[in-house]
Formats: sequence, C-alpha cells, structure tokens
Amino acid sequence: MNQSKEVRIGVIGVGIMGTNHVRHFEAGAMKRGHVVAVCDIDPRKMDKFGDRYKKFTDSRELIRSGEVDAVVIATPHYFHTTIGIDALDNGLHTLSEKPISVHKADAEKLIAAHRRHPELVFAAMFNQRTDPHYIKLRELIRSGELGEIVRVNWIITDWFRTQYYYDCGGWRATWGGEGGGVLLNQSPHNLDLLQWIFGMPCQVRAICELGRFHHIEVEDSVTAYLKYPNGATGVFITTTGEAPGTNRLEVAGDRGRVVLENGQLVWTRNTVSMAEFRAKEQTTFAKPETWKVEIPCDSRGGQHDAIMQNYIDAILDGVPLIAPAEEGINSVELCNSMLYSSFTGKPVDLPIDSSSYSRLLKKLIRDSTFRKNANIDLAGKEIDMTASSSVFSKQ
Ligand SMILES: NC(=O)c1ccc[n+]([C@@H]2O[C@H](COP(=O)([O-])OP(=O)(O)OC[C@H]3O[C@@H](n4cnc5c(N)ncnc54)[C@H](O)[C@@H]3O)[C@@H](O)[C@H]2O)c1
Repeated sequence: MNQSKEVRIGVIGVGIMGTNHVRHFEAGAMKRGHVVAVCDIDPRKMDKFGDRYKKFTDSRELIRSGEVDAVVIATPHYFHTTIGIDALDNGLHTLSEKPISVHKADAEKLIAAHRRHPELVFAAMFNQRTDPHYIKLRELIRSGELGEIVRVNWIITDWFRTQYYYDCGGWRATWGGEGGGVLLNQSPHNLDLLQWIFGMPCQVRAICELGRFHHIEVEDSVTAYLKYPNGATGVFITTTGEAPGTNRLEVAGDRGRVVLENGQLVWTRNTVSMAEFRAKEQTTFAKPETWKVEIPCDSRGGQHDAIMQNYIDAILDGVPLIAPAEEGINSVELCNSMLYSSFTGKPVDLPIDSSSYSRLLKKLIRDSTFRKNANIDLAGKEIDMTASSSVFSKQ
C-alpha cells in the first residue's frame, strides 16, 4: 500500500459500467480512494477522460505498472476470471463486477487465486446487498422470527431490455462473449440475494427460453423451480422481455408471509405457529390470527458507491466485506444449474459438477451459428445507468 493511506485504483473496462464507476469517483462519492488509471482494449473508450488518468489498452500492463494498489474489473464476463487471476497473482486487491465468472469451473479457479493471496481484498459488485429491503428481510429470516421457511417465490421481470441494448455490444447475449443472457447479466443480482437470504437450494429444475423476446441466441426468459434442504420450495421467474414487469418477492414461513413489492416490505404475521395450529386446532376451517406489520425501509441503500467504499475500507482498515467475491460462486452455480437443467430437460442436484457444465457451454459456443447485429458503436457516448437497475425506488 502507498504511504498516503489512499487506495490507488485502476478501472479495467470503461464501457457503460466502468465509466459509471469512474464518474462516481470523480463526483467525490468515495473517500480515501481515487482512480489513477483506466484500461480498455478500445482506446476510444478512454478519450472521454482526457489526460486525467494513466491509460492502458492491455490489462496486463496496468496490473504490472506499479501505479495501482487495486483494480475494478468491469469488462465482459469471461475476462472477470482471467484478469481477476492476473490481478490477484500480481498482488493487487480486486473487485469484480458481477458475475464473478461465467461458469463454476472458472469461479473455482478465480477463488483458488485468492486463496494463494489471502492478504488481498477480493470483492464483488453485488450492490443490491446494500438495499435495506433485502437486509431487513434477511434479518427477519436469519433471526428465526419468520419461523421455518416453506416457500419462496420471486417474480423479477422488470429487467426490460430493448433490442438496441443487445445490439450495442458484440459480446452481449452470446454464448462465446457473455456466456448466457438474463441469468448472466441482469439476474446475478437476484440470484445472489436469493442465496444470501435463503441459502442454496439442493435441487433446481428450469425452463430457459432462448431468444424468446429478442433476436439473441441466449435465454431471455426463465422459470425455475427450486427445492431446499428443509423441503421448502421456490419459484424464480425472470426475463428481459416484459414491460412494465414485476419485482415481487414472497416468502411463506411458519410465522406468516412476507411480501416485498413496490418498495414495501409487509409481513402478515401469524400470531401462533402455523405448523402447530395445523396439527392441533380442533375446528375445520379456522386459520391462525394474523397481524399486518409494515416494516419501514425508506431508502434504496448506497448501492454501487457503498460497495466501492466498503472495498476501500476493507483494504485500508480490514473491515468485513459486504460482498466477498467468494460468495459469488453461488449465483454462478444457480445460473449454471438453471441452464443445465433446461438443456438436459432434467432436475439438477446441487452442488453441480462444474466440468459437466463447462462441457455444455463449450458445445454451445462451438455449435453457435447465430450472427449478431452488433452494429451500434457506443464509443464516445455515455449511458445514463439510473434506469438500468431493478432496485426499489424511494416510495
Ligand atoms: N453492478 C451493476 O449494476 C452492473 C450494471 C451494468 C453492468 N455490469 C457489469 O459490468 C460489466 C461490463 O458491462 P457493461 O455494460 O459496462 O459493458 P460494456 O460493453 O459497455 O463495457 C465493457 C468494456 O470492456 C472493454 N473490454 C473488453 N474486453 C476487455 C479486456 N480484455 N480488457 C479491458 N477492457 C476490455 C470493452 O471495450 C468495453 O469498453 C459486466 O460484467 C456487467 O455484468 C454491472
């Protein structure tokens, strides 16, 4: 670490998201860390920064330059693994955009690199973990207040994307460039929250429809059935093709039902245990009495800036990470198992065999005959990210 107790950061990949991160640093959103270098294989993407930063067109040169203590990787997904391993093996703290890797075998390699250098901070940009709605729901479940969970349903279909969006990058929505569609790009946030709040299921069955709403070769519509070790069931529905779309997370537990929708977290609380009432009640159609509890959540949390500040604080002060990158393997595994189940037409028991999924993905890449219209060039344009994310706005 440099002596000034400021983290010198290099942002690798300055397309839509990487530029956004740089702009937030420039706006003073983070303390004790600043961008000193940017890197993009397309040099035109760095023109917008003038001569404020050192510029690199090869991440290997930035990583070995001695100019930075830490990197933020905001490239297309496959490079999260290769650049992440290179950064960690060369002594740099690393924050990867989501997903940490495209498939579980790559995630395992990336995590192994961190195990070789445990002194380094390795974080993932799961910014929705900072949203108080999810934090409070997690507390409610983890504390046992909601009792044993019996059912989870998440309809997360407000990730609407236009064909224009998919045509803006040659890598997007291809097996070879992105490694998947909505499960790899938009829903990793939700899959991460799902495992963060409820733990991992033991079985997944899914139907993933390829190019249902867009001219793309990967999935843009998914319905998955999940089975949890305690017998709880789950349904996860996501798409980028539906407007206005829905973000509704409903959880049924022994002590009632919680619904998170439209930025409101409402617990319809059973005043007695549902399981005990079911077993002991001596009338036919009675139900436990319920109380309606509205759980106050008046913000959307710090999102990207909070994860970035936490990364800096973890480097300088050793504070615990909000989203350790190691935990990113779980959302990768969920996404891989949904695709694997859909392609094989069978339920998948978790943990999945990472090599079987890699073989499937390699075959999809090899057999791809899809020709993409990636005729829109965003170099020189800056994209407003504010409408891109399915987070609850302040009500
Ligand atoms: N956390 C979030 O809310 C959020 C939101 C959007 C995107 N993302 C993630 O950010 C990442 C980038 O997405 P995007 O929408 O900005 O894509 P993008 O295509 O706009 O930007 C990617 C940039 O990386 C550059 N690049 C490609 N290969 C490179 C390499 N090997 N080395 C250096 N630069 C390279 C490209 O030239 C491009 O400028 C993805 O992982 C995506 O999932 C996260």
